[in-house]
Amino acid sequence: MAKDGDKSEWKEFVWNPRTREFLGRTASSWGLIFLFYLVFYIFLAGLFALTMYVMLQTLDDHKPTWQDRLSTPGLVIRPHADETFEIVYTIQETESWDMYAQTLDKFLSAYNNTVQAQKNHQCTPDQYFQQEDSGDVKNNPKRSCQFNRTMLEICSGLQDRYYGYQDGRPCIIIKLNRVIGLLPGKDGQAPFVTCGPKKDDADKIGELAYFPENGTFNLMYYPYYGKKAQVNYSQPLVAIKFLNITLNEDVNIECKIHANNIPTGSERDKFAGRVSFKLRINTVF
Ligand SMILES: *[C@@H]1O[C@H](CO)[C@@H](O)[C@H](O)[C@H]1NC(C)=O
Ligand SMILES: *[C@@H]1O[C@H](CO)[C@@H](O)[C@H](O)[C@H]1NC(C)=O
Ligand SMILES: *[C@@H]1O[C@H](CO)[C@@H](O)[C@H](O)[C@H]1NC(C)=O
Ligand SMILES: *[C@@H]1O[C@H](CO)[C@@H](O)[C@H](O)[C@H]1NC(C)=O
Ligand SMILES: *[C@@H]1O[C@H](CO)[C@@H](O)[C@H](O)[C@H]1NC(C)=O
Repeated sequence: MAKDGDKSEWKEFVWNPRTREFLGRTASSWGLIFLFYLVFYIFLAGLFALTMYVMLQTLDDHKPTWQDRLSTPGLVIRPHADETFEIVYTIQETESWDMYAQTLDKFLSAYNNTVQAQKNHQCTPDQYFQQEDSGDVKNNPKRSCQFNRTMLEICSGLQDRYYGYQDGRPCIIIKLNRVIGLLPGKDGQAPFVTCGPKKDDADKIGELAYFPENGTFNLMYYPYYGKKAQVNYSQPLVAIKFLNITLNEDVNIECKIHANNIPTGSERDKFAGRVSFKLRINTVF
């Protein structure tokens, strides 16, 4: 009977008692196959581990091997203007500017003098604070310099807790994005920030005050060695106070950094070294 024949053929294929074959192979044939794959996979695992080991040896925990950050740093403003880069509020409506003051409070709390005194060092101003490794001897962790909140004077939020928003003379804070190893400067002097009107807003921007003086980022805050090597790093800040900006009108402002080695608004990256935003302060009177 064909059916029985098929069945016994199948059974014989699974286990053939005459030739002592399992699934068509003898035990030693199976053994060799297992042995082969065992050796093969152990070899692959070993190769993988070796490659990994060699690769990890070449990495330094404290220094990125590859840096995908822009080498031309951008400027950032606080309070965060939203994507539209607009700061718009009405003097008499507290809730329209309170969030700006709160954002600045939060941002600046890391710069409280007490916090800075605890985390960071008093460095020698006006010179780069170099802490290079000497050969294989790593100089980690690297120290960072104090940037005290009080250095922002009337824009520190300490004497004037609403940063001038309540009387139409608001402060804006600017920082430069971190770039590892960058030594910014302008003819041996510290890099500095200036802000000016865009388009036809020249007569609306009014007088500006900069803190620290001249809007400089002191050289002692550079170079930056990376998050892991320099854990307590505080980016230096520049505050700009608008002393007499025209009310009830849009004023377009652009701030840029002046440093020989930071191109501002090059073809390749038009946001390098500059930031633009709109400021509109309304008053109901
Ligand atoms: C920083 O100082 C402000 C004002 O003195 C205070 O309200 C705030 O709690 C302080 N923040 C930290 C983190 O110490
Ligand atoms: C920052 O403030 C602390 C505490 O008031 C003070 O000891 C330190 O000298 C200040 N640092 C700088 C660089 O002004
Ligand atoms: C970083 O700050 C902590 C305190 O928050 C301090 O104990 C530590 O020594 C600082 N590290 C460096 C490298 O300055
Ligand atoms: C600010 O700039 C003026 C004029 O260029 C200069 O006399 C003064 O020393 C500068 N101040 C600082 C702190 O760099
Ligand atoms: C403020 O700016 C207006 C023009 O927008 C000008 O007439 C006025 O004199 C300025 N006030 C001060 C104190 O500079």
